Amino acid sequence: MEAAGKEEISVEDEAVDKTIFKDCSKIAFYRRQKQRLTEKAAYQALLDSVTTGKDSTRFQIINEVAKVPLLAEVYGIEGNIFRLKINEETPLKPRYEVPDVLTSKPSTVRLTSCSGDTGSLVLADGKGDLKCHITANPFKVDLVSEEEVVMSINSLGQLYFEHLQNPLKQRATKENEEDTSVDTTQENQDELGLWEEKFENFVDVKVNGPASIGLDFSLHGFEHLYGIPQHAESHQLKNTGDGDAYRLYNLDVYGYKIQDKMGIYGSVPYLLAHKLGRTLGIFWLNASETLVEISTEPAVKYTLTQMGPVAAKQKVESRTDVRWMSESGIIDVFLLTGPTPSDVFRQYSYLTGTQAMPPLFSLGYHQCRWNYEDEQDVKAVDAGFDEHDIPYDVMWLDIEHTEGKRYFTWDKKRFPNPKRMQELLRSKKRKLVVISDPHIKVDPNYSVYAKAKEQGFFVRNHDGGDFEGVCWPGLSSYLDFTNPKVREWYSSLFAFSVYQGSTDILHVWNDMNEPSVFRGPELTMQKNAIHHGNWEHRELHNIYGFYQQMATAEGLIQRSKGKERPFVLTRSFFAGSQKYGAVWTGDNTAEWSYLKISVPMLLTLSITGISFCGADVGGFIGNPEAELLVRWYQAGAYQPFFRSHATKNTRRREPWLFGEEHTRLIREAIRERYALLPYWYSLFYFAHVASQPIMRPLWIEFPGELETFGVEDEYMLGSALLVHPVTEPKATVVDVFLPGSNEVWYDSKTFSHWKGACTVKIPVSLDTIPVFQRGGSVVPIKTTIGKSTGCMTDSPYGLRVALSTKGSAVGEVYLDDGHSFQYLHQKQFLHRKFLFSSGVLINSCADERGRYPSKCVVEQIFFLGLKKQPSSVTAHSSDGKAQPVAFTYCAKTSTLSLEKLSLNIGADWKVHIQ
Ligand code: NOJ
Repeated sequence: MEAAGKEEISVEDEAVDKTIFKDCSKIAFYRRQKQRLTEKAAYQALLDSVTTGKDSTRFQIINEVAKVPLLAEVYGIEGNIFRLKINEETPLKPRYEVPDVLTSKPSTVRLTSCSGDTGSLVLADGKGDLKCHITANPFKVDLVSEEEVVMSINSLGQLYFEHLQNPLKQRATKENEEDTSVDTTQENQDELGLWEEKFENFVDVKVNGPASIGLDFSLHGFEHLYGIPQHAESHQLKNTGDGDAYRLYNLDVYGYKIQDKMGIYGSVPYLLAHKLGRTLGIFWLNASETLVEISTEPAVKYTLTQMGPVAAKQKVESRTDVRWMSESGIIDVFLLTGPTPSDVFRQYSYLTGTQAMPPLFSLGYHQCRWNYEDEQDVKAVDAGFDEHDIPYDVMWLDIEHTEGKRYFTWDKKRFPNPKRMQELLRSKKRKLVVISDPHIKVDPNYSVYAKAKEQGFFVRNHDGGDFEGVCWPGLSSYLDFTNPKVREWYSSLFAFSVYQGSTDILHVWNDMNEPSVFRGPELTMQKNAIHHGNWEHRELHNIYGFYQQMATAEGLIQRSKGKERPFVLTRSFFAGSQKYGAVWTGDNTAEWSYLKISVPMLLTLSITGISFCGADVGGFIGNPEAELLVRWYQAGAYQPFFRSHATKNTRRREPWLFGEEHTRLIREAIRERYALLPYWYSLFYFAHVASQPIMRPLWIEFPGELETFGVEDEYMLGSALLVHPVTEPKATVVDVFLPGSNEVWYDSKTFSHWKGACTVKIPVSLDTIPVFQRGGSVVPIKTTIGKSTGCMTDSPYGLRVALSTKGSAVGEVYLDDGHSFQYLHQKQFLHRKFLFSSGVLINSCADERGRYPSKCVVEQIFFLGLKKQPSSVTAHSSDGKAQPVAFTYCAKTSTLSLEKLSLNIGADWKVHIQ
């Protein structure tokens, strides 16, 4: 372990103690919002103040006690979105509004005001089927869709807005100053934490005083809510009890507790609600510490009847109340009105962007460990994969590869010739990922530090000097990524000429960017540290890591002169991080429960826009037994970001260290991943262009089936594969729920099939990964597996055609060069569609804009669910030539296999089965 001055910095000392994190009772703005509401009068809207501008309708709202007018603005946004902003009309100074998250200024649609009665205002979108019904007193907004109220805002009167005030000292000198909205008596100061808040040994001095905001939303008829990552919790959001709100506050929580609502590495303040016939989204654009309370009233109530003591069931409409509370900033909330899950995904990505199209290599398998010791070690591990015939794409180097945790440098003893090492990897078309954290070692001789210091690029203390905190290198300063100049400069550090020893196969991992500050309050930065524009850290804490990933991705793009797609993994994230790369779930533990929770955690990330996500395979902390490791590889192979990783003091666990049988099983799992790459890559493209998540909870694919709403031990990969990872030790059977009464599902290994809408018991041994193909789908695969994705560019394709109950199937494949932006700028891509019906499989163009010369052929087509043995099979090319095709039919499994085909993937052709 690196010595930092006289001190040793170690993860065990610094990060493992969970009591260093706050629960709600220790958060002053939470206590204030919970305690003070009842003392306040309700807000009312002043309808005679309404003005209609080009983009929005504005009016004042006021609370008779606080008497500080707030300004509400309602916007209609293209694609059935409403935006509600509430700010002080004339704040003492500007309040923080989160920049850089919305991809552009959303296009507004004009809202027409229809006559409400005297006490209300009705705003309708152009088509008139969506309306905002604003009631003046008490202030309330109902969102009405086709005459049905789907959501009410402030119907519980929890609108809360602490207006900025002069500090006490200044106020005392002002005559007649009276502010009854905030209790300033001395005895309440500590409890309310208005100007100062203590936690453990830390005192948070608040120059702006209390500034928190809050609002309630009632979702009518909804019982199922999802989203607001990141928590190690169930996919479906739970009701929160007192003091048990979901916390959104990016923190470095080593070995985080599971089934817990504490904030961990990243935050996306966005939730989705779903019921039969409608999906909604609420996106709360605020980057300060945020708490979310959820309370569901189920559809059935028990009431006492006059008939006697027996409670009677009474059907009432269910409702879920959601209360958002943030420490500062303004209320800026987007209401995504759906009505379908896909509509909500599109609406959200319209605001925050879609998943970046990743380079193909990054969908392969990644091998990581803290740390691969030296070049020799890298060479040996790399060779190990070839010896054991296991494909992999990326070797990772953690912090020890640097000279004393000085990022952008190499430890000269361990890595004397980084280019030589990269050339070795390149020779097998593999890549390298190295770590680059946001803390910069305080060392005037370290050029990154010296330059940043000189230019004033570090976050500052509230008293003006550079902020210094302890992290891996010892005393460090933290780059202020919120400053566009800092981002520009940081991006420039990735230029090949600047980053000595880097080559174009090197990609980047941003870690510790919550930011993690050892010995800081809750292991992070003091909230009164100062950023660009003089904003306090408290205003923007949750978006700090987002900015680092943004600058890193930009740097990698620039070093290639705009030609190549970057790969950047980040631990911390915010709404919109999907535009910059991948996210993982941080320091998990090598226990079965962590394997199991990885599924709901990734599903939650996926539906909040972050499709490229994964969990450390094997569990970062501790030593997985062979069985757990195998099961984790099998699960990871079907998760978007597939990387194994382990912390320093764990035993080595490369795939071949657990005996031949386990090596074989891990090899099989990784090879399955590689076989499915064309499907994965296509899914990423659809996430990129059409906002559709890759890992999908069942409710997304089956939004009309109540039984799917709570399922989180299995999921869909795209719309064609259902995956049910085995997450229990010594499992011999798993219960798999196969949804959809009109569906048929095929076991992808045994080819057995079941009609949907049932739970089946699937016997499993250690080599079983329960994966089912949905009838009616075509899944493209690769039939030959190479050492890495790059080695498979020209290898042939196969198609797995699973017939629906009606005997048809459809599917798509997307391909391009796998690494550049030519797909975008030159339209160099192929998007093909496969359609099977009435015995004919047709390959046709799905997007005429794309052109890409591919030599690849489809050499194998496998049909599932073909009831009758064909008499002949012929392939027809577009020039009219027909060729007989050799086939094997198996009556027992109802499968037909066409082999030795040579049909170009990008050409029009048909295969007739007679
Ligand atoms: C914490 C990260 O979560 C972990 O993945 C990494 O190995 C260590 N930091 C060291 O860089």
